[in-house]
Amino acid sequence: MTEQETRLAAQKTACETCHACPLGKTRTNLVFGVGSASAALMFVGEAPGEREDATGIPFVGAAGQLLDRYLYAVGIPREDVYIANILKCRPPHNRDPLPEEEDVCMEHLRAQIRIIRPKIIVCLGRISAMRLIKPDFRITREHGIWYQRGAFDMCAVYHPSALLRDATKKEDMMEDMKRIAEKYRETMLST
Ligand code: URA
Repeated sequence: MTEQETRLAAQKTACETCHACPLGKTRTNLVFGVGSASAALMFVGEAPGEREDATGIPFVGAAGQLLDRYLYAVGIPREDVYIANILKCRPPHNRDPLPEEEDVCMEHLRAQIRIIRPKIIVCLGRISAMRLIKPDFRITREHGIWYQRGAFDMCAVYHPSALLRDATKKEDMMEDMKRIAEKYRETMLST
C-alpha cells in the first residue's frame, strides 16, 4: 500500500465509527469513496442512494451508470479518478441532506481531499457545488465554469440524476465533460 492508500484506509475506519449525525444508525453501509488514492481528478456528488447504500460504493446505481458512460465517452478511466460524496451515509428515503449533516460530514470529505491532493475537483450537482465552490452556486448558469479555490481547479456539472429526469441537459453535460477531460489531460502532462 502507498502512504496515501494507508492514510485513506485509516480515514475510512474513522468514518465507520462516526456518530456525529444520526445517519450512521439508519444506513446499511458506509459509502466512503472509490478510486485512486493519488487521483489528479476527483468527483464529488451529494449523498449515497439505495444501490450505493446496499453496496458501499458511490455512483453505482442508474445515475452512476450514466456517469460511467460520460467518463468512457471522454476517455477518462473511472479507476484513475476518485469519486466521493458530501455525505457518506444515505439519508432515509433519499431525502435531501440536512445542512447540519453536511456540516459534520464535510470534515470527512476535507480529510479525503487533504490525503488525495487532487488537482481538479468536479462537483456533481448543485448541492456539492454550493458546499465546495460557493453557497449561491446556480447550476443552470454556472455549470462548466472553472473556479480557482486554493490549490484546486474546480467546476460543477449537472448531477447525473438530473440528466435522467431531463434529457435536454445531456448536450451541455457532454460539452462540460469534454472540457474537464481536456484540463485533466493538460494537468497530467504538466506534472
Ligand atoms: N447520487 C449521488 O449524489 N451520489 C451517489 O453516490 C449516488 C447518487
